[in-house]
Amino acid sequence: MSQNDIFDREIVAPDAELARRAATLLGFDARYARVHDQLRLLMAADGLEKWSRKHHGSLMPIAGLVADQYPLVVFHGDVGTGKTVAAECIANRLLTEARSEDAVIFRLSNRVRGSGKVGEMTTLLAEALKRVVASIGKTRRAVLVIDEGDSIAASRSQEHSHHEDKVAVNTLIQGVDDLRRHKGRVVVILCTNRLSVLDPALLRRAAVVERFDRPDDAERRQLLERDLEGAGITAAQLDELVALTGPTAHAPGWTYSDFRSRFYPTAVAKAFPDAPLGFEHLRAAAGETTASRVMEDR
Ligand SMILES: Nc1ncnc2c1ncn2[C@@H]1O[C@H](COP(=O)(O)OP(=O)(O)O)[C@@H](O)[C@H]1O
Ligand SMILES: [Mg+2]
Repeated sequence: MSQNDIFDREIVAPDAELARRAATLLGFDARYARVHDQLRLLMAADGLEKWSRKHHGSLMPIAGLVADQYPLVVFHGDVGTGKTVAAECIANRLLTEARSEDAVIFRLSNRVRGSGKVGEMTTLLAEALKRVVASIGKTRRAVLVIDEGDSIAASRSQEHSHHEDKVAVNTLIQGVDDLRRHKGRVVVILCTNRLSVLDPALLRRAAVVERFDRPDDAERRQLLERDLEGAGITAAQLDELVALTGPTAHAPGWTYSDFRSRFYPTAVAKAFPDAPLGFEHLRAAAGETTASRVMEDR
């Protein structure tokens, strides 16, 4: 594997496309505010010392301790609940607001764990961390998104965990420890479908742990209202769609990706190109769509 394959994407922030995508996500602003408030101290570690000296005339121990958090954020939840898109959009806004020049969002490739050759995952992970750190120089910022991080971050105590996996999680923990010296200029966002398999030592380091859920009734209504704007759907029809997409005795409610990646294309395909999109297409498509299985163990 060549070095270029370590990252799926390297996005220079601010990125207009990610800002545009953020605006299509339900609840994004509230989630961003929550994560940002928790990360602000971490990302402004230098500012803490100034703050302490200004208001207390000295560098208080508490300021040093608070600045010493680990720059690790964990996003967990079922497949399709929006972890990946939120990680990129939140990274983009954090970097945009920090006004750092040439900030980069790196997304670690799934191929890093793909080949299964002994030692390779660890080598590549170490190399990835090295490249992220190299990118920030003395003043810039970066966010590393580790998407579907289960196999890298899975607990070392799992029965079926292989030696290789244990070494990889050690490398990640060590890497997160080392990143503290950059005072919040590098933040790692790790996404997982299975919080319970994460190594406890890694989880303990997380400054922020955010759970992602399937949309509830109100959220599904809002999503449909927003996405179906212009289709002339009545309030009663909306009620019906909210009910059709909700949990039943046998199945969970739909995920965001069930709506956007499966339901909408199916519905539009029924109308396109000769007819306008109508409620009958939506209802028929809803009948053909089933909710994704619940993945996360709680
Ligand atoms: N908050 C949200 N509001 C609306 N759509 C969302 C939201 N979160 C995710 N989606 C949609 O769901 C799809 C899947 O999101 P993704 O980030 O890939 O989920 P995950 O990484 O949790 O599997 C995306 O196409 C996205 O447009
Ligand atoms: Mg994902």
